[in-house]
Amino acid sequence: MGCANANTPFLRLILLSPNFYLLTPFVIFAHEILSSNQLGIYMTTKDYIELEEKYGAHNYHPLDVVIDRAEGVWVYDVDGKKYLDCLAAYSAVNQGHCHPRIVHALKNQSEKVTLTSRAFRNSQLPLLYKELSDLTGYEMSLPMNSGAEAVETALKAARKWGYKVKGVPEHKAEIITCTNNFAGRTISIISFSTEAQYRDGFGPFTPGFKIVEYGNVKAMEEAITPNTIAFLVEPIQGEGGVVVPPDGYLKSTFEICKKNNILFLADEIQCGLGRSGKLFAFMYEGIKPDAVIIGKALSGGCYPVSAVLSNKELLGVFKPGDHGSTFGGNPLGAAVARESLKVLVEEKLIEKSFELGNYFINELQKINSSHIKEVRGRGLFIGVELKPEAKGARRFCEALMTKGILCKETHENVIRFAPPLVIKKEEIDWALTHIRQVLTMD
Ligand SMILES: Cc1ncc(COP(=O)(O)O)c(C=O)c1O
Repeated sequence: MGCANANTPFLRLILLSPNFYLLTPFVIFAHEILSSNQLGIYMTTKDYIELEEKYGAHNYHPLDVVIDRAEGVWVYDVDGKKYLDCLAAYSAVNQGHCHPRIVHALKNQSEKVTLTSRAFRNSQLPLLYKELSDLTGYEMSLPMNSGAEAVETALKAARKWGYKVKGVPEHKAEIITCTNNFAGRTISIISFSTEAQYRDGFGPFTPGFKIVEYGNVKAMEEAITPNTIAFLVEPIQGEGGVVVPPDGYLKSTFEICKKNNILFLADEIQCGLGRSGKLFAFMYEGIKPDAVIIGKALSGGCYPVSAVLSNKELLGVFKPGDHGSTFGGNPLGAAVARESLKVLVEEKLIEKSFELGNYFINELQKINSSHIKEVRGRGLFIGVELKPEAKGARRFCEALMTKGILCKETHENVIRFAPPLVIKKEEIDWALTHIRQVLTMD
């Protein structure tokens, strides 16, 4: 963040003033204002929103808070107002905003080399491969940038495996997915979305996907044909409203996959890397998927890095030229991901998520509110589902914002609480005081 420019005539006047020390508070105030934007012109929240609405595509409906800086679990708007972040950028900021170690790794690497392309090798990526393998027990990984790209990568790997290893006739491969899923926004991914808005106006869609009810083992088993190559599932659905499947669902569907020579692909982009209180949410059922897809917190929110993890049998299907990305596996992203993983482990954030998540869920469950239908979740991945009569989750998120807590509705009726995993118990207690008030308002 740039400092106020000392050449600004206004600031020079103050700095040269004989009453400089008397004016110190004013100088600090001026510094805050001027450093809040590079133009040196004071802009209000309203000004920023107007610019965004005028010049940006309207593909989101954000809360009207304009964040200017952040640290740990706290974010600050352009007026300096402080908020507790209970969304953590959809679980990308598990390690906390601007984690000093991750920022240091980013700065350090950015002064060495940022991008080589995969035409050449770089000195960070092999270390990331090795560290990912040591941490997760998978033999190989394939790095990408966004989560959607990693999902596409897993789907491509699965198809190639289906044709080259399983022996499915060409162009006949089928992948089973679940209702209420979210895996990104590419055309192939929205081809298996069950959310009407995500598809409306974007056809024609990619064939080869069958959708079955999430949580229903029988439906999954019945959808299998000789051409089924994979089952793609979120061990906990995030965008779907923090939906934890019934106990035994992941284990049973995994066993069905093994019996039928079908790949089990776990999309852990949102629920993974500590969010659920375990390294991966599928660990609650003691299974080892054929592939795990990760992103978001893989870089602590500092840089887009995603990856597919699997054993050689699956990722080994890719030959040079089959798949790639200019930025995927770049040394800057690899350095950031390496440090982000170290922070997750060394600061025991997975264990913290488990303990504090249990506490947070229990306290939320105690709230006596006529609006609440259900409080659910695992670790610090919590959904509070409101009854339809509560008139939507958005108004509660807006009320929480005025109290200094940022969270976002998912679908109509669910408030998701997923703060950075570095949150402290006192901060959860502070948030609970306001959450209780808001959830018991009319
Ligand atoms: C489970 C899951 N998969 C995939 C994605 C897509 O990730 P990205 O937005 O980085 O493309 C998301 C994003 O929210 C997600 O929650």
